[in-house]
Amino acid sequence: MCGIMGYIGGKPAKYIIYNGLQRLEYRGYDSVGIATLGKQLQTIKTVGDTSKLNIDLIDPKATMGIGHTRWATHGKPTEANAHPHSFGAITLVHNGIIENYEELKTMIDSKKLKSQTDSEVLAAVIDYYFKKEADLVKATKYALQDAKGTFGLAIISKDAPGQIVVARRGSPIVIGVGNQQYFIASDQTAILDHTNKVIYLEDDQIAVVKADSLELYDLKLLAQKVAFETLDESPESLTKGVYRNFLEKEIHEQPTALANTMRGRVSSDGSITLGGPNLSQADIAKLKQILIIGCGTAYNAGYYAKYELEKILGLPVSVEYASEFRYRFGAYDPETTLAIFMSQSGETADTIASLNEAKRRGIKTMGIVNVVGSTIAREVANGGIFLHAGVESSVASTKAYSCMVSALLMFGGFITYRQGKDAAITQKIAKELLELPDEIALTLELQDSIKKLAQKLLGYHDWFFLGRGSLYPVAMEGALKLSEVSYLHAQAFPSGEMKHGPIALVNSQHMSVLLLPEDNLLYNKTLSTLEEIKARGGKVLTVSTRPKEPASDFHLTVAHVGDHVDGLIYNVCLQLLTLAISEKKGLNIDRPRNLAKSVTVE
Ligand code: M6R
Repeated sequence: MCGIMGYIGGKPAKYIIYNGLQRLEYRGYDSVGIATLGKQLQTIKTVGDTSKLNIDLIDPKATMGIGHTRWATHGKPTEANAHPHSFGAITLVHNGIIENYEELKTMIDSKKLKSQTDSEVLAAVIDYYFKKEADLVKATKYALQDAKGTFGLAIISKDAPGQIVVARRGSPIVIGVGNQQYFIASDQTAILDHTNKVIYLEDDQIAVVKADSLELYDLKLLAQKVAFETLDESPESLTKGVYRNFLEKEIHEQPTALANTMRGRVSSDGSITLGGPNLSQADIAKLKQILIIGCGTAYNAGYYAKYELEKILGLPVSVEYASEFRYRFGAYDPETTLAIFMSQSGETADTIASLNEAKRRGIKTMGIVNVVGSTIAREVANGGIFLHAGVESSVASTKAYSCMVSALLMFGGFITYRQGKDAAITQKIAKELLELPDEIALTLELQDSIKKLAQKLLGYHDWFFLGRGSLYPVAMEGALKLSEVSYLHAQAFPSGEMKHGPIALVNSQHMSVLLLPEDNLLYNKTLSTLEEIKARGGKVLTVSTRPKEPASDFHLTVAHVGDHVDGLIYNVCLQLLTLAISEKKGLNIDRPRNLAKSVTVE
């Protein structure tokens, strides 16, 4: 949520910062701004995204600066509230929330504040200490000792040129290392064009970045060791290629992404090997309960896996929204529970807070994460599984969902084998998983017919997504995608729940997407829901492995691979449906209103 980009080196800073902000726009696009420091400090800001920013106003000779793209938290998306914020000698960009900003206002002349943001208050507090200390690093240290909350920060001062002071607590900061130049960003995607050598800041670290040096300190200003890491993504992964938008590209990348998730892990001999989870044989023997925690699509992926993991492992699997778990007392026995944290970005604030809460309770913690080097990936105690799905840029998550479900299935197959259970269980999972990339590639060929179908469905504004068994979580994911990208009112229910209330909403203007499973018993049960909706005049789009469903109004046929993975194939159809409807509505598909890719604030 919100993006930071900074540069210091020998090149014109404005272009590098502007391009970085474009890469980061998926994190927030309410307002944007850049401040550069050359002969003088120059700041430009605007409401909206980077296309509204006139960088011609900035001196190209300035070789250092900071920029920000904002997702509004404190204060409306106005120009005054846009970052960078300047107060006195200090100019900064900030991700996160300063919780005690009202209290901090007592230290400063708050009449001079120009915005309603907590970030400007922090700039004023740093300025307060800067006046006393005449040292930007010390002033930052004192201010951060006073601040409560979360921050990723890049700070410059017109009175201390030639350096950018960077700090982090709970909000990620990565520093890219170039030749006599450094790139500062909240997300590695902003710097991939320039370098793959990076440093991830830890919480409560301060970095002092100059064109030719980088020093790292803790909050007491004791020097820290600088550890470099190498990114394996390429800049090509950041472009749309032949696709119209990132959503379409990422939907189509699923066969490759899945193959990458499985590479070296799932073998054609039916074995599944995972090097990431750090669980001893004794830990596995003690395991009595699995807890899966995430938000949004990550939660939905966990919910799907719950149905399959309970079958595979014979253990209870609970799925919790991270925003609930972090404040809820769940009676989980630390000795016998494993908590798995699901996150594409690895930076979702609620998921990180839940991870900390689980660790505090002594529960074993594992991550299923896409972004290598992210907070969750680094802070889980018992390792995990990287998705290797590639960069996901569209705000709506698609390929991460498929890869998360597959990673959890791999985990199920791996653990059941280590529990000494019948190898046939693992072999069945491996077989189904290995067929999945090709089957999804074939499903993607339905795109044209789904586009034609979408045209007929444009008049429906209220939607139900219904399923049973593991198709219920697929329905949840279908409803989430349609609401967030197409701005249609969509809700998911287990199809058996319809007659307990939701069916009251059904009329001739109402569309239900009914997911019918292969399994005969559940198929027949779900079919009766179809009849009940039709009897009330509702319209129904069925998705099933049968060539047609006579009673429905619209129909899509999907392939049957196996009970563990079929839902992923249904889900691809629902992704294509959302894409087609949103395109026909002419919406901003990759950047739906009010949203951001990575929700790094509570
Ligand atoms: O990065 P994460 O997987 O932790 O993100 C979780 C949710 O914010 C995310 O899935 C969100 O719901 C997407 N917009 C769904 O498409």
